[in-house]
Amino acid sequence: MSPTSLLTTLLVAAASVRLAAAASAQVFSPPGKGPLKQTANYTSFSNSTLHDHKVVKGKAFDRIIQIWLENTDFEVAASSPMFESLSEQGITFTNFHSTTHPSEPNYIASAGGDFFGAADDNMYHIPSNISCVVDLLEDRGVSWATYQENMPTDSFYGYSYTQPNYINSSAAPYIYYYRKHNPLIIYDAVSQDPERVKRVRTFNDFANDVVNGTLPQWMFITPNMVNDAHDTTIDFAADFLEYWLLPLLTDPRVNGERTLILLTFDENESFGVQNTIYAVALGTAVPVNLRGTTDDTVYSHYSTLSTVQNNWDLKSLGRQDTNASIASVFDFVAKQTGHKNTPAAPNQVPHFNLTGVASGPLSSAHYVPFAAPNVNAKGAGKGGVFLRPGINLKLTADKLPAPVNLTALNTTTPWQMSPETTSGKKMIKCQGAACP
Ligand SMILES: *[C@@H]1O[C@H](CO)[C@@H](O)[C@H](O)[C@H]1NC(C)=O
Ligand SMILES: *[C@@H]1O[C@H](CO)[C@@H](O)[C@H](O)[C@H]1NC(C)=O
Ligand SMILES: *[C@@H]1O[C@H](CO)[C@@H](O)[C@H](O)[C@H]1NC(C)=O
Ligand SMILES: *[C@@H]1O[C@H](CO)[C@@H](O)[C@H](O)[C@H]1NC(C)=O
Ligand SMILES: *[C@@H]1O[C@H](CO)[C@@H](O)[C@H](O)[C@H]1NC(C)=O
Ligand SMILES: *[C@@H]1O[C@H](CO)[C@@H](O)[C@H](O)[C@H]1NC(C)=O
Ligand SMILES: *[C@@H]1O[C@H](CO)[C@@H](O)[C@H](O)[C@H]1NC(C)=O
Ligand SMILES: *[C@@H]1O[C@H](CO)[C@@H](O)[C@H](O)[C@H]1NC(C)=O
Ligand SMILES: *[C@@H]1O[C@H](CO)[C@@H](O)[C@H](O)[C@H]1NC(C)=O
Repeated sequence: MSPTSLLTTLLVAAASVRLAAAASAQVFSPPGKGPLKQTANYTSFSNSTLHDHKVVKGKAFDRIIQIWLENTDFEVAASSPMFESLSEQGITFTNFHSTTHPSEPNYIASAGGDFFGAADDNMYHIPSNISCVVDLLEDRGVSWATYQENMPTDSFYGYSYTQPNYINSSAAPYIYYYRKHNPLIIYDAVSQDPERVKRVRTFNDFANDVVNGTLPQWMFITPNMVNDAHDTTIDFAADFLEYWLLPLLTDPRVNGERTLILLTFDENESFGVQNTIYAVALGTAVPVNLRGTTDDTVYSHYSTLSTVQNNWDLKSLGRQDTNASIASVFDFVAKQTGHKNTPAAPNQVPHFNLTGVASGPLSSAHYVPFAAPNVNAKGAGKGGVFLRPGINLKLTADKLPAPVNLTALNTTTPWQMSPETTSGKKMIKCQGAACP
């Protein structure tokens, strides 16, 4: 084939790929009759409600609802009419960073204060001696749950779930749910604890918990793979927010007194630029005089952890949640609690867009074992660093062995599982010299 005809062939092929993509572009369809009505499109109906009636007073808010969308650059979100309108009702953080690429490490970081070297969306679990935010919340009696749209049952352990396509019933079955967007199930401290794992809940449970008045105080909410813009566009996500979030913003059972709603994204779509994401603080806890304003403090996903610790005077995890340069407490909260932030200077903000270069226990190419938390770290709350049973405090970060390339030894990190794994008991055994 001549270079010209090869080029023509490639151009035609590229054009037909684009056409195919355009033809299959999905259009938002509501999964049910509103956010507070259970629907068969979510696979199983709720069997239970939580019983969280006790409210532990926070200094700036009594409830936090985190909602994560997917893979969108700051400017793209900020220029969408839906997000412009949400920004008018809240504080837009213009210097908020994801920690890395791709998705899963960011979700892991949101719960554990580190992404532990993860650099892909594989199936991992984190051993039960490693603490996460749930330990801090329970330590002070703050109730919590995560709600995952289209997760088929409570406590679901699997890698993903394929179900009938509810948007187009003649199309092939669709994967609406992925574990990689469900941070708490990845921590054995949650998944292997029969009481805790019940709090990994579905959107039908959410409807049930709201209607019964038993929503907890700390929530992490993951919309499905189309509604969060992952497989679709920001306009699709905007339609979802109109269906799901807008009615809840005016519902006192959700956005009641002293409620903070943080709507953000896991990561920037463009890997080649600094990983800045749109984030807006909404809800009744946002002071009226700050609504419609922006805040350009340097924040990262670790800031949400430190803000929660500061608000309820929780212990810390002793990881990046205590790294003052990248884990500033949200300014409007810090002003109310008297906390002093020391954020990185704009020219010293690390590049959060690097993939696959961090060593850690969830990296096969740069494997090092889990380290104990830094027990001397000073968090934004009170009472020191939380330690889980089974943690070996002698394994401090500076005593770990040099990173090993397990990929070159034809094995993976021991914390990786086969995507066929459906329960916490059937874990893939580590094979190789570096296994613990
Ligand atoms: C499932 O979603 C589709 C698409 O929006 C909708 O037509 C259908 O009524 C929904 N099913 C139920 C039970 O709500
Ligand atoms: C409360 O939850 C139960 C299930 O535990 C459910 O049957 C009931 O319908 C809910 N209450 C209301 C008012 O919807
Ligand atoms: C409710 O219980 C039934 C029967 O055990 C189960 O099939 C269903 O998945 C449960 N619902 C949820 C949301 O887990
Ligand atoms: C629904 O799916 C079928 C099968 O893939 C496809 O031919 C059709 O164009 C789709 N409909 C819409 C509205 O996208
Ligand atoms: C990260 O972003 C910076 C600044 O935009 C850019 O110079 C750099 O090339 C990016 N790095 C990667 C690995 O994409
Ligand atoms: C805190 O974060 C900065 C920026 O990423 C990093 O250079 C520094 O090593 C971190 N400190 C600790 C103790 O991890
Ligand atoms: C954590 O537990 C795992 C599994 O039991 C063990 O291999 C590891 O050494 C422990 N790490 C620390 C830091 O305690
Ligand atoms: C690890 O080993 C694999 C397979 O040999 C190789 O492709 C990769 O570049 C290595 N990574 C590092 C960081 O050495
Ligand atoms: C890894 O597997 C490759 C291909 O099967 C083989 O050539 C190589 O010798 C193996 N390396 C080790 C360290 O076992």
